[in-house]
Amino acid sequence: MLALSRDQFSKAGIAEQFAKSKVHSDKEFLSKIVSLAKLEPGSTVLDVASGTGFVAVEFAHKTKGLVIGTDITREMLGWARKHAEREAVNDHTTFLLAEGSRQPFPDQSFDNVVSRLALHHIPDPGPVVKEMARLVKQGGRIIIADQISPEDEEAARFHDEFERFRDPSHQKALKLSELNKLYKEAGLTTKGWKYSPVLLQLEDWAMRAGCDKERTDVLRRMMLGANPRFRRAFQIRESDGYTWFRLQRVILAGTP
Ligand SMILES: C[S@@+](CC[C@H](N)C(=O)[O-])C[C@H]1O[C@@H](n2cnc3c(N)ncnc32)[C@H](O)[C@@H]1O
Repeated sequence: MLALSRDQFSKAGIAEQFAKSKVHSDKEFLSKIVSLAKLEPGSTVLDVASGTGFVAVEFAHKTKGLVIGTDITREMLGWARKHAEREAVNDHTTFLLAEGSRQPFPDQSFDNVVSRLALHHIPDPGPVVKEMARLVKQGGRIIIADQISPEDEEAARFHDEFERFRDPSHQKALKLSELNKLYKEAGLTTKGWKYSPVLLQLEDWAMRAGCDKERTDVLRRMMLGANPRFRRAFQIRESDGYTWFRLQRVILAGTP
C-alpha cells in the first residue's frame, strides 16, 4: 500500500504538476489552516506527508521556529526543498523522508503538527493521527485538512470509486464523523474546524494524477452519467466545454 502512494507520486512529471498546482498553492486554503494553529514567533511545526511543501512553507513564513516536512516520496521532497529556497525560508525549514505513522522525533517535540490532503492516501490512518498526537506539546495543535466524503454511505462509495480510478493510490476519503472518531481515539479534543470546499475542473484534476485522454474520458462519463443523487452531492456539471465538480474539504484542529 505504501508502495502504491510512492509509485504514484514518483511517476515522471507528477511531483512537478503538484509543485505548480493552483489547487494546492491556493492562499485561501493555506490561510485557513494557519488560522487554526497555535503560532508565536518561535513556534515549531511538523508537516506530515508534506509533498511539495506548500503547507510547510506557508508556516515557515509565519514563524521563525523550525519547520519540518516529512514524506515517503523523494521526488515530492525535492520540489519542497526548491520551493523553500525560492521563498527564502530554507534557513529554518527542513524536509526528511519518513512514513506518517513512524516519525523520527521524541514525544512532544512540536507546537503544531499538521497534515494536508494525505490521510485519504493512507489505508489505516488511525496510527498516523496517534503519531501526530504523540509529537505535539501539551496545549499545542494537531491540524488535519483533507477532502471528506458525504455521510451518505453510497455517495461516499461513489466518491472513493472515482478518486481511485483517477489515482490508484487513493484509499478512502473519511467522513467528518470518522475523522472526529480518529481524533477521539488519539486522545485529542477538538479546538475548531473550518470548511474549504473546492471546485475542480475534471480535465485538470485528472491530468495532475497522470491520466491520459482515454482515462479522462472514462472519468467524465462516470461523473456525468452518475445517478442524480451523486451528481447533486458533488455538484457535477458541464460548462464552457469542461466538466466541473465540487469536493468538500475540512480543516480540523485538536489539542491533546
Ligand atoms: C496529495 S499529496 C499532498 C501533499 C501536501 N500535504 C499538500 O497538501 O500539498 C499526498 C502526499 O502524501 C504522501 N504520502 C502518502 N502516503 C504516505 C504515508 N503513509 N506517509 C507519508 N507520506 C505519505 C505522498 O507521497 C504525497 O506527497
